[in-house]
Amino acid sequence: MSRLFTPFPLRGVTLPNRIAVSPMCQYSAAEGLANDWHLVHLGGLAQGGAGLVLTEAAAVAAEGRISAEDLGLWEDAQIEPLARITAFIRAQGAVPGIQLAHAGRKSGSGAPWKGNNVPPASWPGAAPSAVPFDEGWPTPLALDETGIAGIVEAFRAAALRALEAGFQVAEIHAAHGYLLHQFLSPLANRRQDRYGGSLENRSRLLREVAGAVRAVWPAHLPLLVRLSCTDWVPGGWEIGESVDLARMLGPLGVDLVDCSSGGMAPRAAIPVGPGYQVDFAARIRREAGIATGAVGLITGPAQAEEILARGEADLVLLGRELLRDPRWPLRAAHKLGVAAPWPAPYARGSREPV
Ligand code: FNR
Repeated sequence: MSRLFTPFPLRGVTLPNRIAVSPMCQYSAAEGLANDWHLVHLGGLAQGGAGLVLTEAAAVAAEGRISAEDLGLWEDAQIEPLARITAFIRAQGAVPGIQLAHAGRKSGSGAPWKGNNVPPASWPGAAPSAVPFDEGWPTPLALDETGIAGIVEAFRAAALRALEAGFQVAEIHAAHGYLLHQFLSPLANRRQDRYGGSLENRSRLLREVAGAVRAVWPAHLPLLVRLSCTDWVPGGWEIGESVDLARMLGPLGVDLVDCSSGGMAPRAAIPVGPGYQVDFAARIRREAGIATGAVGLITGPAQAEEILARGEADLVLLGRELLRDPRWPLRAAHKLGVAAPWPAPYARGSREPV
């Protein structure tokens, strides 16, 4: 019995399998609006058999975009083009999810093929403290309490728009050095008020955002949080704090922690290799008693199956492997001896060896 193809009930939604599309920026939107690229890209991944299709980071505020070409949900006009996409994903039997994000002091970089990770030039970032991401980056504006309340409200309003657009899963992006992670990490957060210092204070903004989103996200729909479980830098955010935070997120109505890492310190030494972040998912699942997602260089069906069979995670998220092969889930089903849910118009292609 394949674990990978065992349905995953989360609140009132059942993912048809344990394979999720990890959020991936496409740098292909104008004014935050989804277009044909996003429909074909995300729609193709749904056709390919992923159970959960998560969008790229969608900005909750225009100035919170990672790049000017990100998707956004800061205004109502952005709902309708996304609704077209969620309808298509659902028609394929997959579950559409959206990642809600604010890039903070890392706002405003460009598409990789135009020179990503260059200091932003377009607009000043907001951050917990006036500490730049790296040499050559502008000093961000430290948010005051009114600004912080505005961030919480932006996430809440974007969640409502996501609901209207037909998404069934929302993921709050609190990883990869973006705004919510900036509040968590002592490397970016030097505040001395109730949003800085202790873990309780540094996690306050994320907890407020989770609470505000949960308040408008219907009780039958799942809410996920993506964490960078460690900054991979001494003195930075680390896995022990991630476990403690995960314990706080469950009671706020968060259903699953998506366990990534890094993105806070530009020169962190990260031991990248197959499944290199799986241990974080395993530890949080075991010690915080919350469902987890494992991500990062998961590329093989047997590897994915083992992660689930060993109880290290409840869900696997794949990124680059799905760019290489959007039909990876269908091929994985064949390899694992499961009847693959090929779309009917593709059925004749399904009988060839894989
Ligand atoms: C990403 N990643 C990413 N993560 C995230 O939380 N939000 C995002 O919008 C993006 N954008 C993005 C774009 C592209 C082109 C890539 C390749 C990656 C990270 C991604 O979700 C995933 O965590 C990593 O790529 C590691 O998983 P894989 O690719 O090894 O399966």
